[in-house]
Amino acid sequence: MSILLLTSVSADEETMWLSKLRSVLPEEDIVLLPDLTDKAEVDMAIVANPPQGVLHRLPHLKWIQSLWAGVDALLGDPTLPANVPLVRLVDPTLSAAMAEATATHVLALHRDLPRYARQQQRQEWRQHELLRAADRRVGVLGLGEMGVASAQQLQALGFNVRGWSKSQKSFEDIECFSGQEDLTEFLQGVDILVNLLPLTPETKGILSKNLFSQLPKGASLINFGRGGHQVEGDVIAALDEGQLSHAVLDVFSQEPLPADNPLWRHPHITLLPHVAAPTNPGTAVDIVASNIQKYRRTGQLPKLVERTVGY
Ligand code: NDP
Ligand code: OXD
Repeated sequence: MSILLLTSVSADEETMWLSKLRSVLPEEDIVLLPDLTDKAEVDMAIVANPPQGVLHRLPHLKWIQSLWAGVDALLGDPTLPANVPLVRLVDPTLSAAMAEATATHVLALHRDLPRYARQQQRQEWRQHELLRAADRRVGVLGLGEMGVASAQQLQALGFNVRGWSKSQKSFEDIECFSGQEDLTEFLQGVDILVNLLPLTPETKGILSKNLFSQLPKGASLINFGRGGHQVEGDVIAALDEGQLSHAVLDVFSQEPLPADNPLWRHPHITLLPHVAAPTNPGTAVDIVASNIQKYRRTGQLPKLVERTVGY
């Protein structure tokens, strides 16, 4: 049997993945699509945002391993074979990278760095009140692998942290809220909102005028989830009206973000090119190898994506 490596990354990056995967799985025959001679030989696919319309042509595909944590693009492929189990990347190194990114940008907002950068452009010497971290309320949307690591990091830095998820959670010193019924109460106590939700039919467009209006005036937004979570026009309007004071955006509906998109030039937006938590190839291939070796040994698969809910 063979494993197909199917990605939409550059040729150099794909070659890097292939060589790393072959080195941790020397017993496996891992191939790229152009080198595949017999589609019936493929029983596993390792994918990173793969091109649509390929996976359903593999008649003996047993499961799909994603190299990304978020599988929204994959699930958006209308030809994705319906009954093939899907495993996403769960990697403590990725969660730690996200926690680091979250801490970096929450600290920057907490210490007013975007405001001081604007003042510097005007050569303006003006000091603003400094709050204690304990008096800064940070809310994390999504308490999964990324959200919990980030919330715990923020709590360790001394912030007043709360989180929101679908099912009720409990973590020491983090106030937990769940479901639509808790969302307003959660948002009312948030100065800096961090989005770490997966993109699903339920969460699409959640970062909208309606949500911003429930935050205290002048709150800030960090979106590290997916571009489909934010309604771009509503983000700009909320910033222009002062309902939001600043937004850190790492993800966009269209990536790369087109040069003429007004988000690029907004003075109250920090714009990043989807770099909050990149997959670490070194640790990711070890995790993928261990998933595959366990499957070969025992027939057991890791925790699957629940395709009906979208994460
Ligand atoms: P998980 O599946 O581990 O966690 C998802 C969390 O979101 C869970 O707590 C879940 O609640 C909650 N959730 C899902 N739907 C809802 C809903 N309708 N209402 C309330 N809460 C909801 O995902 P990860 O933490 O691993 O990843 C989250 C996302 O982060 C990824 O899908 C991806 O889009 C993004 N990401 C971005 C990266 C970047 O570089 N910008 C890098 C990696 C990931 P419950 O626990 O109750 O199920
Ligand atoms: C991911 C990402 O989902 O990089 O892994 O966004």
